[in-house]
Formats: sequence, C-alpha cells, structure tokens
Amino acid sequence: MRQNEFHRPVLAEQAVDLLITDPGGIYVDATTGGGGHSKLIMQRLSSHGRLLCIDADPDAIHYAREQLKGFENRIFRLMYFDQADIALLEENMLPATGFLFDLGISSFQIDRKEKGFAFQGSGPLDMRFDPTNPLSAETVVNEYPKEKLETIFREYGEERQWRRIADKIAQVRGKNRIKNTAELAEIIRSAIPSVQLNKTLARIFQAIRIEVNDELHRLERALNKAFCCLDRAGRIVVISYHSLEDRIVKEFFREKERDCICPPDFPQCVCDKRQEMHILTRRPVTSSENEIRENPRSRSARMRAAEKTVNYSGIL
Ligand SMILES: C[S@@+](CC[C@H](N)C(=O)[O-])C[C@H]1O[C@@H](n2cnc3c(N)ncnc32)[C@H](O)[C@@H]1O
Repeated sequence: MRQNEFHRPVLAEQAVDLLITDPGGIYVDATTGGGGHSKLIMQRLSSHGRLLCIDADPDAIHYAREQLKGFENRIFRLMYFDQADIALLEENMLPATGFLFDLGISSFQIDRKEKGFAFQGSGPLDMRFDPTNPLSAETVVNEYPKEKLETIFREYGEERQWRRIADKIAQVRGKNRIKNTAELAEIIRSAIPSVQLNKTLARIFQAIRIEVNDELHRLERALNKAFCCLDRAGRIVVISYHSLEDRIVKEFFREKERDCICPPDFPQCVCDKRQEMHILTRRPVTSSENEIRENPRSRSARMRAAEKTVNYSGIL
C-alpha cells in the first residue's frame, strides 16, 4: 500500500515548519498513523535529531515502521499519547523539543470496515484504536444507560436530536442486541427526519468513537504532559478536526499564555500565575483550497501551535 492510500498527511509542510526549531532536537509524533508527518520530520532532522513515533493502533505502527525503514534515530511505541512522558523517560529523550498531534482517525481506519468507524457499509461495532481496549462501541451502544447515551450524543456529538436517537436505540436493543454499524445507522435513520442525515450519522458515530477511546480526556492529559516534557522554546503543534478538540487546544494554550488570573477588578495582581507559553497561531491555520480539493478530509482541519517560555523543570 502506498503512503497516500493509507493516509494523506494534512497541513504537512506547515505543521513541520512550525514544529521544528532545531534539526538536532528531540521530537514526538504523538499520532504517527501512516507515518506521513513522521517521514517529513525525519527528512528535516540532522543526524543528531531523534523522533519518537506513537500510536495506539498496532496497524498504524506496523505501517509507519515500514514507511520509515530507511531512517535511523526514530523509535516506535504502541501506546496512547497521554503516556508519552513514560516513553520519553525510558528512552532518555527528555527534555523534548517538539510534539505534534494530528488528532482523530486516519483514512485507513475509516476505510477498513472491520474497524467499525464508518457509517457507510457494514462492520462490527468496534471503533477502538487499541484492539485490547475492553470498551468497544458494541458495549456503549448496547449496555450504556439511555441517559448516558443522551449525554454522549449531546456533548461529544453536539447533535440536536440526541434524545430521539437514544430513545430509538434503547427501544431496539430491548429486543435484540445491536451488532453492526449498518444496523446502528439504520436505527439512527429511522429516528430522525432525512434532512442532513449524513451529518447526524457522522456526529453520532463521532460521539461513540470519542467515548470508546476516551479521546477528549486523553487529549487534555497529553497536552499537560507534553508541556511538562518540553524544553524551553520547545513547541506543541496540534491539528484537530472538530470543535470539541479545537476548543480544548485553544483553551489550554490560552491558559498557558496568561500571566495573571486575578479577577479583572483587582487593583493589583496577587496571583502566582506567570506566562508559560507563547501562542504562535493567533488564528488556527487551515488547509488551502488546493489541499481541500486534493484531500477533502483536510476541510475541517484546524492547526494551532504554541512555544514554551519557561525552563524545563525536570519533574514528571
Ligand atoms: C489523523 S491520524 C494521523 C495521521 C498521521 N499524521 C499521518 O501522517 O499518517 C490519527 C492517528 O492517531 C491515532 N490516535 C488517536 N488518538 C490517539 C491516542 N490517544 N493515543 C495514541 N494514538 C492515537 C490514531 O490511531 C490514528 O492512527
């Protein structure tokens, strides 16, 4: 399989331009996927530079390993990215110079029906990045209390029809377990009017995927850990694909940039807060029309980056 068939990296040049400040530095590709960004990073590093490639999906690690065969100084870890600190410590790679997060799922994961991420066609209700994760979409759909499903659809899917869809699922699963993505898609179709049906399907599938992989909590933890692992002037670059992820990144960077958290009516600052990062992207970077034409999945990409302005403390 060629690289672009597995996954075409989004905002690739721009991401790597923002990430690499020192070609001899230590970098983390926290979502190595098909290795597209990883390869570009390796091409820009000198012989002293090192790259840690992380992914929770063994297929991604297997594929990326093949893609990066010709390079030295890169290592692979099959793990969730909120454990990157452990890998960096074990590999004697602290402090790090930069972290790249290209969130969500790869084209390969969407296209493989057996992974259960797509609402077209039929596959098992799986949706796990890590196949050893005890929680799959099958459990979420069939065993979560209806109220919990409602919350997930509302909060992780931002879907207005959350109540109707959860109601319908509860009704159907009361008779027989819901087994595959085609059945789930059909239940959603039958619960709502057909206007904007694909958008609703995408939102509900996204919501279940976020829950299964605990994506938002992992992102919050990973950003905090990445910050701790970074050297002074090291950077975090994040490409996100929906507003929930983007909000977390934006708020994290903003909080790190603030040098005071006193209420605005305080006559003078009494807090200990100091600026810890400087935001490099006042507005999120988006794909060009050209990139969107060639790779429609880049349409929703939003990239943000920030640079650490305090010293590495060495405490993990
Ligand atoms: C958009 S793809 C990355 C594509 C990659 N940048 C490339 O150029 O091929 C996202 C990847 O991140 C992985 N992933 C998502 N969340 C993760 C997490 N919390 N920990 C580790 N890997 C994660 C997915 O398994 C997927 O392979």
